[in-house]
Amino acid sequence: MDKSRVIAITGGSTGIGRACVLMFLKRDYNVSFGDINDEEASSLLEECHKLGFDSSRVMFSHVNTTCREEIARWAEATAQHFGHIDAVFANAGIHRSNTMLNIDPAELELMINTNIYGTVWTLQELVPYLQKNGSGSVVINCSDQFFIGKGNNFAYGLTKGALGQITRSLAVDLAKDNIRVNAVCPGTIRTPLADKALGRWADKAGITLEQAWAEEDALFTMGRCGTADEVATMVYFLVNDATFSTGSHFLTDGGLVCRWPWARSSVPLWYRMPLPLTCTLCPVTCMLCKVWSRAPDSVCQWFMPYRAAGQSALLTSPAFGHTFRLQWKTAPWGAVFHWGDADAVPWM
Ligand SMILES: NC(=O)c1ccc[n+]([C@@H]2O[C@H](COP(=O)([O-])OP(=O)(O)OC[C@H]3O[C@@H](n4cnc5c(N)ncnc54)[C@H](O)[C@@H]3O)[C@@H](O)[C@H]2O)c1
Repeated sequence: MDKSRVIAITGGSTGIGRACVLMFLKRDYNVSFGDINDEEASSLLEECHKLGFDSSRVMFSHVNTTCREEIARWAEATAQHFGHIDAVFANAGIHRSNTMLNIDPAELELMINTNIYGTVWTLQELVPYLQKNGSGSVVINCSDQFFIGKGNNFAYGLTKGALGQITRSLAVDLAKDNIRVNAVCPGTIRTPLADKALGRWADKAGITLEQAWAEEDALFTMGRCGTADEVATMVYFLVNDATFSTGSHFLTDGGLVCRWPWARSSVPLWYRMPLPLTCTLCPVTCMLCKVWSRAPDSVCQWFMPYRAAGQSALLTSPAFGHTFRLQWKTAPWGAVFHWGDADAVPWM
């Protein structure tokens, strides 16, 4: 019987799950993944085979995590195929945009069933195999929304908050079985899930998806969203290397949560319209500082001389009597500014 370590991954067909399937295979794990997306699963299996991983190393089962019986069948098939199961990545999840006041009851039920019950049933069916082994590791895909609230994210935040708490209680219950339980908490990661969420927002705001991504990137301390591979690296670390960590929540969020406030919350819609602005450093009242693409960056050649000095400038808009603070970002084509409400953005 093959003694390689075995991980079971839910939602492995696309996004973070897919990146994990590939990373664990490349790092000598055998992988069983379950998903409802058979088409993407086939394309992933094809990719695995091209990389030299055949069915002795990777298996797929159609599993809807909202159906406990399907998970039970998959768990049994995995244990039979590989002989044992060492680790679980409970990753399958969905996102919908809503508030507590406007959510449709059916949507709330779908979110709770998929993200909470789906995870609970996954773990109820798979953890006994880890217990049989005498050791193991569980990673739950939580979110930065375990730490913070985001607008229009009521049900998603609710479910991710629950998963963060499940991580703690399960860690306590499973410590006696030598099983560690941790949560990975990603910020925005460019996957099909995030494309859909940002797409909904872009449609509402009348901008393109790429413009929405540029705004999302600007929220992050590191100036960009993350990749599925970067989350997979954290998941691998938690499963394989973090031998003294259990019941903890590991952010992989490009510094989003450590920073307050975020650019988007300080830039109301009307700020993003072209406005005549007067600068304390430059006597010109002009339209050159207009925000292009509604991103929180603007371009103005008048401020070129100040860029070298690394100065920031206070701008007042006569139209609204409001004060902004601009700060340089170097760019090959000229002066580019980060800007925000001078009162609300103390770090600028
Ligand atoms: N992308 C992000 O910005 C982000 C941030 C934080 C957390 N997450 C979490 O990461 C996890 C993976 O999301 P992703 O971004 O890779 O999105 P994704 O849509 O690419 O991947 C989710 C996968 O889960 C599968 N899935 C959905 N419902 C399922 C069900 N009922 N049963 C089985 N499989 C199901 C989908 O088919 C898909 O393959 C989710 O739990 C999500 O909440 C994502």
